[in-house]
Amino acid sequence: MKNTKIQPKVTLVGAGPGDPDLLTLKAVKALKKAKAVLYDALVNEEILEHAPNAVKLYIGKRKGNHSHTQDQINDLLVEYAQKYGKVVRLKGGDPFVFGRGKEETDYLEGFGIKTAIIPGITSAIAVPASVGIPVTQRTMSESFWVITGTTSARTLSNDIKLAAQSTATVVILMGMSKLSEIVSIYKDNNRHTMPVGIIQNGTKKEAQQAIGTIETIEAMVEAKKLSSPAIIIIGDVVHGHKSLLTYFNEQFMEDDFIYQNLDIEPIIS
Ligand SMILES: C[S@@+](CC[C@H](N)C(=O)[O-])C[C@H]1O[C@@H](n2cnc3c(N)ncnc32)[C@H](O)[C@@H]1O
Repeated sequence: MKNTKIQPKVTLVGAGPGDPDLLTLKAVKALKKAKAVLYDALVNEEILEHAPNAVKLYIGKRKGNHSHTQDQINDLLVEYAQKYGKVVRLKGGDPFVFGRGKEETDYLEGFGIKTAIIPGITSAIAVPASVGIPVTQRTMSESFWVITGTTSARTLSNDIKLAAQSTATVVILMGMSKLSEIVSIYKDNNRHTMPVGIIQNGTKKEAQQAIGTIETIEAMVEAKKLSSPAIIIIGDVVHGHKSLLTYFNEQFMEDDFIYQNLDIEPIIS
């Protein structure tokens, strides 16, 4: 007789930075087999179409609008795994880059539930790349730091003070509410002319960006009303940036919808 006993397993899947095409084939395969998908605020909901047979539950926690605490999320993962068996926990970018992925797998394993990881394309690299900014470039930048603007104590990471003294490219996630503090640190290090790029909603049709220097970036952010979710990139590599539209032009030449939403003309080269 066929054994129908549910065997709980949770696969943490990276959903990439926003563009639903920036998903791995392995992620698509896991979604197809899933019986339940629990997903975050940063996940593009178009991706859920790859999981036609799954129950879907939004478990995002957005700043100022916490629909679920991390403890509630952990408990829901256990509950859904025990009820449905194959569960996909879909997380923005890569689950192990400021994604609390390890906390979730540790918690699940504490209940004897199997876990697996499918890495995703992290926004830390893909969002700068989407506007032509390489995080490393020969002769310009030999390393890059990815730093959180909001630690578990809700403060700016002290690593930014160290990074500001280095020649590394610095990529800051969750840093928009600490932009003034970041700018002050760079000014204290006499880096007033250092290029800075800020990209909000990178790789999505509602993407916006500001490119300036340590001296000018705060005024630009205010003028453009940029906010989270955004990536802050500091370093000489920002010089090489392209128009925000290059990404969409390369991929969606025919897609009028994108252009209508961005309120600009396509660049035809
Ligand atoms: C909790 S972290 C999760 C990072 C994610 N695990 C990753 O690898 O991309 C959320 C932060 O990532 C950044 N972020 C994620 N997606 C983004 C996007 N499409 N555009 C700009 N920033 C993004 C923002 O700084 C946001 O506040």
